[in-house]
Formats: sequence, structure tokens, C-alpha cells
Amino acid sequence: MSDLRELYQEVIIDHNRHPRNFYKMEDATQQIDGINPLCGDKITIYLKVVDNVIQEASFQGTGCAISIASASLMTDSLPGKTIQFVEAIFKKFHDFITATDKPTNTEELGKLNVLGGVRDYPARIKCATLAWHALHAALNESSEPVSTEDKSL
Ligand code: FES
Repeated sequence: MSDLRELYQEVIIDHNRHPRNFYKMEDATQQIDGINPLCGDKITIYLKVVDNVIQEASFQGTGCAISIASASLMTDSLPGKTIQFVEAIFKKFHDFITATDKPTNTEELGKLNVLGGVRDYPARIKCATLAWHALHAALNESSEPVSTEDKSL
């Protein structure tokens, strides 16, 4: 295993064992459940959005190491960002994680690059994108639970 791969695995293990922003936000302006029906895991995303800017992001739920680490990394990256910026990052992250060839120019994704390894394990892509599907739906003012099997995402 390469050093880089080991470093990536360490970050994922750390965020799974000690998830950042893992709490129920009582004054959230948006809240939505993301569900992976293939395994039954569910993650709830909470956002506080003021004047088009995400002030605070948190999550709760149960999932595998990849889904929890992804939600932890995602919520860490959101505060201070505009909705438009986050939607652009959502698309970039989705393309990054589902690309068949290793994508280039991914600096903008910052720490999220550690999740690139799941590209080699297609069954885990839904785990890595579970929280992101919920985020995308929340930013589009939906409050209905969203599934990783929803073809519109
Ligand atoms: Fe359920 Fe990964 S196995 S989200």
C-alpha cells in the first residue's frame, strides 16, 4: 500500500472514530434524512443557512466508516460557504468519486480527496455520497427523506 493511501485511510478511520459536527442542531433552518436502502443506513443532515451562506452544519445517524467519515468531512467543509459554491462542490465531488479515470485538478476538494479511494470499490460509492445526497436535497429546500437510489441525483 502506498504512503498516500495509508494516510487517506488514517484520515477516514479518524473521522469515523471521532466524527466532527456529530450533533442534533436544535435551531437548524434545514434538516433532511439521507437513506441508503441497500444497507438501511440513515444519516440526518442539519444546516443553518443565513443570507445564502451556511453558518453551521452537523449530522447524526448510523452508517459504515466511509459514510460517517464522508459526512464528518463534508460538514467540516461547509461553514462560511455560499449555497451556490456548495452546489458546485457537490457536483465536483460526485464527478470525482464516480469517474472511471483518476480525475485531475481536485485541489478545490481539499480534504475530501481522501475519499477518492472508493472509486476502486463501486459498491462503496453510495456510502461516500449518502450525506451529499441529503445535503443536495436540503439545499434545494426539500424536507422529504432522500435515497441514494434516487435517479435524479
Ligand atoms: Fe451503509 Fe455504507 S454500508 S452506508
